[in-house]
Amino acid sequence: MKAEIIVVGKIFDVTQAKLDKEFACHKLYEAADKAAFLKSLAGKVRALATFGPNGADAALMDALPKLEIISNFGVGVDAIDLAAAKQRRIIVTNTPDVLNECVSDTAMALVLDTLRRFPASESYLRSGYWATRGAFPLTTSLGGKTLGILGLGRIGESIARRALAFGMKIRYHNRNRKSVPYAYDADAVALAKNSDVLLVATPGGAETSKIVDARVLDALGPKGYLVNIARGSVVDEPVLLRYLKEGRIAGAGLDVFDNEPKINPEWFGIENAVLYPHVGSATVETRTAMGDLQVENLRLHGAGKPVKTPVT
Ligand code: 8YV
Repeated sequence: MKAEIIVVGKIFDVTQAKLDKEFACHKLYEAADKAAFLKSLAGKVRALATFGPNGADAALMDALPKLEIISNFGVGVDAIDLAAAKQRRIIVTNTPDVLNECVSDTAMALVLDTLRRFPASESYLRSGYWATRGAFPLTTSLGGKTLGILGLGRIGESIARRALAFGMKIRYHNRNRKSVPYAYDADAVALAKNSDVLLVATPGGAETSKIVDARVLDALGPKGYLVNIARGSVVDEPVLLRYLKEGRIAGAGLDVFDNEPKINPEWFGIENAVLYPHVGSATVETRTAMGDLQVENLRLHGAGKPVKTPVT
């Protein structure tokens, strides 16, 4: 008999098909009466599959007293109440490493698009302005510029390798200094001051909430660019919007926002920002690998074995 699991939010269909093969999946997001749904499963569900933004809060854990594992699709677990899980001895797993390359590709695309303004130059061509107004205005080179990486984890290091190939210099700030050949800054303000492009690659959550604030953006200055592929929560978004409008920083490239996907509509009119709809890991290959890891963790736990990628 297949073990019963709850799927919190709609996940990638390839992954859902794999889950269906091995587990009896109950979809919380399809339940009209969520409380009744959880009550009916409380006595038998030991595992939960969730998806980055859906997470799992303490109330959900309380509704499922037999819960032993929360398997997340995504490396970021900021939407899961980790303290509540720890208190209840619930294992939490995520999907690290398999997305490093794709997320770093996205980071470099944002750096390129923001400094070189490729999206705007394409719109210029499609609007027919090339023939009527002449060449697109000159932009800013990457080569020789300093990329300051805020949060040099596995993704940050993979971004650094790419940026080096573009001729950029690398600096970083991290909670712990690492043995890497890059210059270290003691805090985010110092890093911003020493960088042309500040790239945010920290985890989300309470510890990093709004660490990119007015002080950091002032240090980045009117010639500096901000790129964020981490979480919207890491940046003080109202301040960033104001600084972009007032030209207090040169521009921004963002893959993440507050209130995704219903982002602040003010963004639609901000011309010195390049905006992606959280596509950092969004390739068939990477999402398949992320899903496989999510399923593997559930399978291992179900078989009484240690999970592959626990969040510590
Ligand atoms: C996912 C991400 O798109 O892994 C993460 O933390 O932000 C992205 O790769 C998102 O979490 C969906 O699960």
